[in-house]
Amino acid sequence: MPVGVTAVVVLAAGAGTRMKSSLPKVMHPIAGRPLLWHALTTANGLAPDHLIAVIGHGRDVVSEYLHAELPGVRTAIQDEQLGTGHAVACALEALGPLTGTVVVTYGDVPLLRPETLAALAQAHSDDGNAVTILTAELADPSGYGRIVRGAGGQVDSIVEHKDADPAQLAITEVNSGVYAFDAAVLADALSRLTVANSQGERYLTDVVGIARGEGRPVGALLARDPAETEGVNDRVQLAAMTRILNARLIRAAQLSGVTIADPNTTWLHAGVTVGPDTEIRRNSSLEAGTVVGNGAVIGPDTTLIDCRVGDGATVIRTHAHGATIGAGASVGPFSYLRPGAVLAEGAKVGAYVEVKNSTIGAGAKVPHLSYVGDSTIGAGTNFGAGSITANYDGVDKFGTVIGEHAFIGTNTTLIAPVTVADGGYTAAGSTITGDVAAGDLAIARARQTSIPGWVLNKHPGSAIDAAARAAGAVPTTPLTFSAVEPGKDSPA
Ligand code: UD1
Ligand code: CA
Repeated sequence: MPVGVTAVVVLAAGAGTRMKSSLPKVMHPIAGRPLLWHALTTANGLAPDHLIAVIGHGRDVVSEYLHAELPGVRTAIQDEQLGTGHAVACALEALGPLTGTVVVTYGDVPLLRPETLAALAQAHSDDGNAVTILTAELADPSGYGRIVRGAGGQVDSIVEHKDADPAQLAITEVNSGVYAFDAAVLADALSRLTVANSQGERYLTDVVGIARGEGRPVGALLARDPAETEGVNDRVQLAAMTRILNARLIRAAQLSGVTIADPNTTWLHAGVTVGPDTEIRRNSSLEAGTVVGNGAVIGPDTTLIDCRVGDGATVIRTHAHGATIGAGASVGPFSYLRPGAVLAEGAKVGAYVEVKNSTIGAGAKVPHLSYVGDSTIGAGTNFGAGSITANYDGVDKFGTVIGEHAFIGTNTTLIAPVTVADGGYTAAGSTITGDVAAGDLAIARARQTSIPGWVLNKHPGSAIDAAARAAGAVPTTPLTFSAVEPGKDSPA
């Protein structure tokens, strides 16, 4: 049972200039979700009465995202970024009078674990502190606020790098920017902040000195893993933190029974679930809301975005988005499944096949070189190599319906809208424009014509001519080829 927390304030108003982006920094994705989502999800782990994000730069984009995806999160607007103290004051003003514990974190710190935040709140409550700071020991503390402790080891203040003297600069314990505050102490101290510092800002860190000046207890909790407290300032850090987060997601999957052949080239988004005894082979990426069952094989070289994959399915060298792959189905290599592709149990989609907005019935096969769009293929049907559904007339899309246990001959073009009933056949090379009734064979192709001895007349003395003669070809009366071309005079 987590200790009671009244509010968590997540600061996210800063510009994020070093990202060099038109997208607000906190909206940059990591493991498939914006930085801010990770910060808010961790904050939500405390089950606070209020969860509020302070937004400013790019506020339209950020608040639109929050309304759509995290409607329980409130927002406070900080028009001008006048400092972290001012930002928290904006949140408190939006929330109204509070008692109890207020936790402050940053929207650009994606690796903070809910357990660490809970431990901070717990220490704050156990020790009866006015302020408890999450700190980190860093080999290079440059840029961070330093934790200044008194002779007895108690925290006295936080001094910003830009305001620190040489002795303070030598301190390696830094302020992570994550804190638990007593609400009343915080509100009172914020109202007394000044801008008497090198940056002319209202520093949240000054709340510590103010509380100590009143003789209130201030504590610190040292984060065991300093990476948890790191913020993202540029795209180099974004990639580095993505890798750390990915390693966590991979480890969790492995410990739940998933074989991951190569953790260095496997990428999992937050929220993806994979069942035990599934094997993920190298260079694969499972993204968005993808759910994979038990005992499946995914990869190598496979990307699944928002897909559902059933137990025991095999998906090799495939790009799939918004597809449902049934239990025991087989996909790939080199398959492309687009939104609305639904493969029933045991269906097969093979090499160089694209499927869009179509259902492939149980045990049906589309093994080679096909396009299936806006179609239904019944159970047990074979859709021959090179066959396609012609679903688009340049303006509108039309559907093709193929029944069960039908046979679509190689290189059939099905001009939609068209239907092939159960057990219907199409002959190889047919262009099907009319419905095919149950049990019928539809042949729609020109009959073959052979011109005897044509090669011997056309290419006399060539290697082809020699080969044909050696195989028994005999010359015939020359037949000028122009004679059979349309628009020319008839043969004499
Ligand atoms: C701050 C701390 C510093 C700490 C460091 C940890 C202060 C004065 N200093 O420094 O002690 O070591 O974080 O990373 O608090 N923000 C707003 N509105 C503002 C200013 C900032 O929302 O007016 C947000 C930013 O978007 C960011 C966070 O607060 O997410 C921290 O701001 P930043 O300017 O990066 O603070 P630092 O100078 O790094
Ligand atoms: Ca920072």
